Amino acid sequence: MPQVNQIEINPFHQREDDLQNALSRGNVQLEAWAPFAEGKNGIFENEILLEIGNKYGKSSAQIILRWLYERGIVGLAKSVKKDRMKQNIDIFDFSLTAEDKVKIATLQTSGSQFFNHDDPKTVDFF
Ligand SMILES: NC(=O)c1ccc[n+]([C@@H]2O[C@H](COP(=O)([O-])OP(=O)(O)OC[C@H]3O[C@@H](n4cnc5c(N)ncnc54)[C@H](OP(=O)(O)O)[C@@H]3O)[C@@H](O)[C@H]2O)c1
Repeated sequence: MPQVNQIEINPFHQREDDLQNALSRGNVQLEAWAPFAEGKNGIFENEILLEIGNKYGKSSAQIILRWLYERGIVGLAKSVKKDRMKQNIDIFDFSLTAEDKVKIATLQTSGSQFFNHDDPKTVDFF
């Protein structure tokens, strides 16, 4: 069995479906690529994420990574900046409330921020 399955997961594409349960039955760890949607859709300036972050003295990036962590998902965040790398692992001194999570759930959009996996053109691209 694979040890990890890395797929796109971020607040705009949350994947609150049965995939994680299916993987856990095979002890496969779910991992999120593009946890920040590569900055698309103004994710770092998103008002809901900023408002939640303000409560804890955390950035929107840290709120996203904590949200993934609390879902049992490994967040594969990329940064070339040392201060952001430090920020991105500094998520273990606070917890999100149920109310925070309900607010984050409202950020779901129609799907992937990158590809339509049902479009034959995407298959051609790959
Ligand atoms: N398996 C796959 O199909 C697949 C597909 C895509 C990506 N990936 C992997 O997944 C990893 C992450 O994905 P990604 O790089 O595409 O997107 P991402 O992690 O969602 O976003 C990276 C962007 O966020 C910025 N950033 C990072 N930390 C930040 C912070 N604390 N505050 C503000 N901005 C911040 C980075 O800028 P700076 O670097 O300037 O800080 C960069 O522009 C990569 O290592 C990539 O290799 C895998």
